[in-house]
Amino acid sequence: MFNKRMRIKALLANEAANYQVTVMGWVRTFRNNQFIALNDGSTNNNLQVVATLGLFDERMLKRITTGACIKVAGEVITSLGKGQKVELKATSIEILGDSDAEKFPLQPKRHSLEFLREIAHLRFKTNTFGSVFRVRHSLAYAVHKFFNDKGFVYLHTPIITASDAEGAGEMFKVTCLPLDGTAPKNEDGTVNYKEDFFGRSTNLTVSGQLEGELAAMAFSDIYTFGPTFRAENSNTTRHLAEFWMIEPEVAFNDLEDNMNLAEEFIKFIIKHAMDNNREDIEFLAQRLDEEEKQKPQNERNEMGLVEKLDFVVNNDFERLTYTEAIEILMESNHNKKKKFQYLIEGWGSDLHSEHERYLVEKHFKRPVILINYPKDIKSFYMRMNDDGKTVAAMDILAPGIGEIVGGSQREERLDKLTRRMNEMNIPAEDLNWYLDTRRFGSCPHAGFGLGFERLVQFVTGMGNIRDVIPFPRYPKSAEF
Ligand code: 4AD
Ligand code: MG
Repeated sequence: MFNKRMRIKALLANEAANYQVTVMGWVRTFRNNQFIALNDGSTNNNLQVVATLGLFDERMLKRITTGACIKVAGEVITSLGKGQKVELKATSIEILGDSDAEKFPLQPKRHSLEFLREIAHLRFKTNTFGSVFRVRHSLAYAVHKFFNDKGFVYLHTPIITASDAEGAGEMFKVTCLPLDGTAPKNEDGTVNYKEDFFGRSTNLTVSGQLEGELAAMAFSDIYTFGPTFRAENSNTTRHLAEFWMIEPEVAFNDLEDNMNLAEEFIKFIIKHAMDNNREDIEFLAQRLDEEEKQKPQNERNEMGLVEKLDFVVNNDFERLTYTEAIEILMESNHNKKKKFQYLIEGWGSDLHSEHERYLVEKHFKRPVILINYPKDIKSFYMRMNDDGKTVAAMDILAPGIGEIVGGSQREERLDKLTRRMNEMNIPAEDLNWYLDTRRFGSCPHAGFGLGFERLVQFVTGMGNIRDVIPFPRYPKSAEF
């Protein structure tokens, strides 16, 4: 069979020698017309292929260029060279795909991440992105493993929806109506969406939570894991217009159960990656170390990547209320000396990423769970606390990232929920289906959303969220 090959990772892991194999992969370098560094994406470690001088046709050897795809058969032998235990002594080499060395944008040298973002269709072929996306895969697998082992049902919530789950209005419209001004109009001049594909106005989902709640009211424990879309014009290293979110929703859980689940979940998936992707994480840690060395001493991270991940897995997250956090921030030298861009004026202020990062990185030096936020800065569905001022919200803040999880106990009391919707001008008739859960067998329940890319950033140490999703979408960019 053509495809009968050994993966390079398995070949290198096996220290035995003197057996015949076939491998396939892409050439990273070709030295002295003899030594090929071959990579097939199973690991960053290249296989050294030896093309003994005089054994191969010169014209074929000329086609072994960086980027070319080749098939090699030969004998695995103990390597005399440094850096590898075994190498492959080629008996046959076949060119599967040429690569013009003059034109191939990836040279065997270090390229900047900005440059690689412009050629995102080729960046998988680099060590950094090889590691990042193998770790991303592993984290995604661990998400399913965690919830499956606990008996949760994986629910596929719709991508196209008519609801604005967060009530924040940052949605991409979905329409088949013409955009040249000829769309059918209502008498008042607005577009008549009754004539549109779905017979109503629709958008891409910002969250699967509300649909998730419907299913939790029957299965008790569900989670979603799918793409979500936000049309917010945020050009930061933490925001994407298209990102993946994991949203568990659990009947009979209160805010504390919700915190416990989220903390256990985060630790589990990080540990899974540490146990299964050690090589890639160590590679990324080294990469980060080198990057850190370029920074002035006082801006460097105290911990390396591996140390940081170990710390998070093995220590409790700090838990405190929004009110306590505001007190800490008001008292901080940062606020007093006006080092924050947005000064904390007092209770009720929304927290910006600089405040979250101060709490996590400077004050507690560990992940933090903040709870009980003022109702006015949170969504309509969060459960009102007895003080009438705060809601049972929780945000988890991670070092270097800021908010990684947002969640809450939900308002299960119909009267309180509809009152809140009224106050926030959310038309009840649009969410009748949602309110039905509170009419027929309502129960206390809670859930959260974890931004998958922010987690991948945390685990890989990558500074920009655009480098942890294969094809990032952000303002003014939807390439590939
Ligand atoms: O805090 P958010 O907006 O919460 C929700 O959507 C709730 N419905 C979740 C729930 O309770 N089921 O978003 C949740 C998380 C954030 O904490 C953040 O990690 C991530 O999603 N996130 C983004 N990630 C990348 N780019 C963006 N533009 C993001 N917006 C939110
Ligand atoms: Mg949030």
